[in-house]
Formats: sequence, structure tokens, C-alpha cells
Amino acid sequence: MDARLNPLGGLGLLGLDLKAEIDRLRRERNAVILAHYYQDPEIQDIADFVGDSLDLSRKAAATEARVIAFCGVKFMAEVAKILSPDKTVVLPDLKAGCSLEDSCPPEDFARFRRAHPDHISLTYINCSAAVKAESDIIVTSSSAERIINQIPRDQKILFAPDKHLGAWLNRKTGRDMLLWDGTCIVHERFSVTELLKLKAQHPAAPVLAHPECPAAILELADYVGATSGILKEALASPEPVLIVATEPNIIHQMRKSAPHKTFIGAPGADGNCGCNMCPFMALNTLEKLYLALRDLKPVIEVPEDVRVAAKRSLDRMLEMAGNVSPVRVQGD
Ligand code: 13P
Ligand code: SF4
Repeated sequence: MDARLNPLGGLGLLGLDLKAEIDRLRRERNAVILAHYYQDPEIQDIADFVGDSLDLSRKAAATEARVIAFCGVKFMAEVAKILSPDKTVVLPDLKAGCSLEDSCPPEDFARFRRAHPDHISLTYINCSAAVKAESDIIVTSSSAERIINQIPRDQKILFAPDKHLGAWLNRKTGRDMLLWDGTCIVHERFSVTELLKLKAQHPAAPVLAHPECPAAILELADYVGATSGILKEALASPEPVLIVATEPNIIHQMRKSAPHKTFIGAPGADGNCGCNMCPFMALNTLEKLYLALRDLKPVIEVPEDVRVAAKRSLDRMLEMAGNVSPVRVQGD
């Protein structure tokens, strides 16, 4: 840890008021702070914009700011750099990776593609820039179904790297996409036994789940969708108690918008939902965001040939996903 980090009570670095300092630096640097729903509530509250992967990609492509401080994981910050190469993109902690990205090394993915030359590749955005560069179309969990439905039914498709999302999309669209064997370590931890116990305690509570969950969890869900969809559904539901089967930091937005409702995080095998925090997202902190804005590092770089190839597959996603308005925009 940086030797200067010395949290003092409510204050951070050397007694600095981190929130005020981040605000000052954001103005001085002409920076926009983008945050994913899985970030710590303190980070969500200071961000200019909070969203799902697709909203954040759109925002990164459209922002006028000179600096993008990306509070999410590395592949998300890379997307910002790919779409806005002239901007400086910083990620508070470069080690904020993703188990799905780790499951899909670019050389193995290229081999998978070569083994199936008659398939196009639809690739989940949770992958490296190099894998995006080898892909035909990128999808997010909120855009995938709409994009698949625009592909001729006789076109064979490879789907990487999330096998649970891929299997759910196969069931939803009636396709038979060939699936890469990757998983999200966070969504895999929900326990069917514990969820059934929780449902028995709250029989009227709808279960809202992310499609990165295994099929056995999705079968118990009343709604399956991306983080933005889960949030929308949680707010629209007339039920006062809801069970949320995704990373629990999203509950922060639910409580802010509907403080009268009770949101319960779905449990892991130990009966405690705390094990479902994304360890990668958790690496970003207010202190590290402050340092990233102050020092303009760690900076995200993508080699130009990779960036150009990856941009093609991302642009296809943005075109095919259409102009769906984001769920929630702060400070626009
Ligand atoms: P969303 O696109 O639903 O925000 O998903 C991002 C993610 O990493 C889920 O684990
Ligand atoms: Fe990756 Fe899962 Fe974390 Fe999302 S929640 S960033 S898929 S490890």
C-alpha cells in the first residue's frame, strides 16, 4: 500500500477530505467519473454516472471530458480507451480484473475460432481487448438477446467466455451457440439450497437474478436480466420485499430509490451473501480514485492494432443494441 495512505476517522489520505479533493480534481482535470453498479456505495455516490456495462460503454464513447476515471474492472476501462483513444483513461487499481477475462486467454480463443471456421463469434464484453479484437460482435448481458435475434437463424455462433450466460441465451432464443467454458466466480457462489430456504421465509418475494448465475439459480428466479434490468425491475415491482441474486453493491441504488422496500441479497453456501462481493471491483477505493485523478495513473493503454480491431466488434454491438436509454444518469 502507498506509504502516504493514512486513513484518519472519516478522512482519508493524510487527513484529506477525499470527497472534496476528488471533486476538485475532477474539475481541474476535466474528468468524468464512471462507475459500475458493483462498486462500493461511496464510489457510486461520487460518480458522475453509474450504469451497467452497456450504459458505461455508451457513456465512454460520448463523453466530452478529457479524462475518464473508470471505477469498474479492467476490461471496462479498456472499452473506454478503445472507444475514446484520445482521452486519458485511468483505473484506480490495475489489478481489478475479472474471472471471465482470465478464463479466456487470447491464444486459446484464437485456436477455438480457427477450429470452427463456419461460426461467427459473439463475445461477452467481459474479456480482454485482444479477445475483442478476435471477435465479430461484442455483447453485454443487456444487449445480447436483441443482437442474437438480428443474426440469421442458420448462422452458427460461438459464444465466449461465460457458459452460464451463453446457456441462458440459448434457452431464451432457441439457438444452439457453442459455448466457451468460463464462469463468473461471484455469480457461481449462490447456493440453491440457501436460496430455497430464503424463499420459504419470504414466499411472496420475487427473485431477481443476473444471467451469469448457473441455470439452477435462474430456474428459481422471477426475473433474469442485466444489472440495469434488475434495478428497473426492483423499483417497478409492487412487492415490498425482493431477493437479489447478483453482486450485492447494486442494492445501494435500490435502497436509495426505494427506501421503503426491503432488498435481500441471495445467499452463498454459508448462508451469508457477503461472499458474493466481487473481489476485483472491491480493489477500487476512494483513496485510489483520488490518487488516480491526482497522478493520472494507472493509465489504460491498448496497442493501436488491437484497439482498431476491437473497436470494430464493439461498434457492431453499439449499432445492433440500438439506442436504449440508460436506467439512471447522474450529473449529466
Ligand atoms: P452488467 O452488464 O449486467 O452490468 O454486468 C457486468 C458484470 O460484470 C456482471 O458480473
Ligand atoms: Fe467479472 Fe464476475 Fe466481477 Fe463481473 S462480478 S467483474 S463477471 S468477476
